[in-house]
Amino acid sequence: MDFSTELINWYHNNKRDLPWRNTTDAYIIWLSEIILQQTRVEQGMPYFYRFAERYPTVTAFAAANEDEVLRLWQGLGYYSRGRNMLKTAQLVQEKYNGVFPVKYDELIKLKGVGEYTAAAISSFSANEPRAVVDGNVYRVLARYFGIDEPINSPKGKKIFQQMANQMLNKEQPAVHNQAMMEFGAMLCKPKNPACGICPVRIGCVAFKTNATAWLPVKLKT
Ligand code: ADE
Repeated sequence: MDFSTELINWYHNNKRDLPWRNTTDAYIIWLSEIILQQTRVEQGMPYFYRFAERYPTVTAFAAANEDEVLRLWQGLGYYSRGRNMLKTAQLVQEKYNGVFPVKYDELIKLKGVGEYTAAAISSFSANEPRAVVDGNVYRVLARYFGIDEPINSPKGKKIFQQMANQMLNKEQPAVHNQAMMEFGAMLCKPKNPACGICPVRIGCVAFKTNATAWLPVKLKT
């Protein structure tokens, strides 16, 4: 079995039931991904429910006033995220008639939406074959292939993005991306990765050379 198939099988047997995984609504996925930027799942979850209930559609969000959005946002920090969200909701309402875009090339133009978020929304909502690269993906790839190029150097970023594109399961990009991130978060953890139960350890360079503690490499900035 190839790497992606192994991870997808693992994912189906081990995934957490997270609310934003049970939808292909690009607006709801956008909501979850913006909230989860720099925020842990356990911390972001109540905020996700609050926003999704108060603003069930992007049209409802676009009609909100900023004070209310920032009040709901209270405790999450990085208030520019909350402000950008409202601006983006208003733009989607006006420019796209309230239909949240699902194509990577449209999403990347939105305020607050970078490469990771555009790949996440386009793959999760429309199965566009775009590989997500977040901290989890960096770690999984660096260890499996034994790459010691720093993940935050321009060269490293390029290498890891190319590698992630190559590994992407083009038939099931949504599940593949979720599986990569969940595997990194739950099993191939930064500290004490669960190599003993890892389905891909046979092919993992870091496991074979005892290097999980040293990978990925990150330059101090
Ligand atoms: N963190 C950011 N996006 C996530 C997702 N889709 N599932 C779990 N954790 C995440």
